[in-house]
Amino acid sequence: MNLKDKVAIITGSGGGIGRGIALKFGSLGARVVVADLKLEGGKETVSLVEKAGGKGLALGTDITDRAQVQEMVKATLDAFGQFDILVNNAGWDIIEPFVKNNPELWDKVIAINLKGPIYCTRAVLDHFISREYGKIVNISSDAGRVGSSGEAVYSACKGGMIAFTKTIAREMARYRINVNCVCPGPTETPLLAELTKGETGAKIIDAMKKAVPFRRLAKPEDICGAVAFLASDEAAFITGQTLSVSGGLTMS
Ligand SMILES: NC(=O)c1ccc[n+]([C@@H]2O[C@H](COP(=O)([O-])OP(=O)(O)OC[C@H]3O[C@@H](n4cnc5c(N)ncnc54)[C@H](O)[C@@H]3O)[C@@H](O)[C@H]2O)c1
Repeated sequence: MNLKDKVAIITGSGGGIGRGIALKFGSLGARVVVADLKLEGGKETVSLVEKAGGKGLALGTDITDRAQVQEMVKATLDAFGQFDILVNNAGWDIIEPFVKNNPELWDKVIAINLKGPIYCTRAVLDHFISREYGKIVNISSDAGRVGSSGEAVYSACKGGMIAFTKTIAREMARYRINVNCVCPGPTETPLLAELTKGETGAKIIDAMKKAVPFRRLAKPEDICGAVAFLASDEAAFITGQTLSVSGGLTMS
C-alpha cells in the first residue's frame, strides 16, 4: 500500500487520532495538510512528519467556519497545486446525560461533528469532480452505530456522518470519488483523557476495556491503517462502507 505523491487534507490532525493518520500517510509517501483549530498542535504534527522524512503544511482551521474551510482548500491548492484525499477527522464531545445537556452544547457538538465535515466535504468536491478522482474518509465512531450513554447528540452526529457518507458515495461514484467511513472504538487520545478525568472516568475506562473483546483500548496507530487503506488506490472499488476499528467491540 502506498500514497506516493498524493496530497491529503486531514482535519483535526494537530493531535490524537488525526496526528496518527498524518504520520501514517507521511510514511506512505503522501504530503499532508494538517488542518487544526490549534495551529501549534498542527505545527508539531508537521515537524514529526518531516522528521520521519515526509512533507507537511500546518494550517489553523476551524471547520465550523465555512470561510476558514474555503481558505483551507485554497491554501492547499496554493501550496501543492492539487489534492487527492480528505480525511474528516476533527471531532469533539463531553460525556453528560442527555437530560442535563443545554441547547448550547447541542449546537456546538453538531457544529463540530456534523456541520464541519459537511462544509469540508462540499469544499473539496469541485476539485475532485474536475479531476474525476478523490478519496474521502470520514472518521465517525462506534457511538454512531450502537449509541453511547452520555453522548446522545454526538452519537446522532456520528450516525448522521455514516448516512452522509453513503449518500455522497452514491452521488460521487460517477466521478470515481470514493467515500467511506471508519468508526474507531474507545481510543487513547487527549479527547478520551479529557472525557474520562477523575474517579468516575477511571471506572468508565475500566468498563470500556472489559467490553472490548481484545481487552484493551485502541491507540491512534491502530486506527490509521484502515484509514490509509481506504484512502489508497487499493480500495478503488470500495465506497459507501463503514468499518469499525475497535478490537471487536462492534461487529456487523
Ligand atoms: N478517542 C476516541 O475514543 C474516539 C472514539 C471514536 C471516535 N473518535 C473520533 O475520532 C476523531 C479524533 O478524535 P481524537 O480522540 O483524536 O480527539 P482529540 O481531541 O485528541 O483530537 C481532535 C483534534 O481535532 C481538533 N479540533 C477540534 N475541533 C476542531 C474544529 N472545530 N476545527 C478544527 N479542528 C478541531 C482538536 O484541536 C484536536 O487536535 C474525532 O472525530 C472523534 O469523534 C474518537
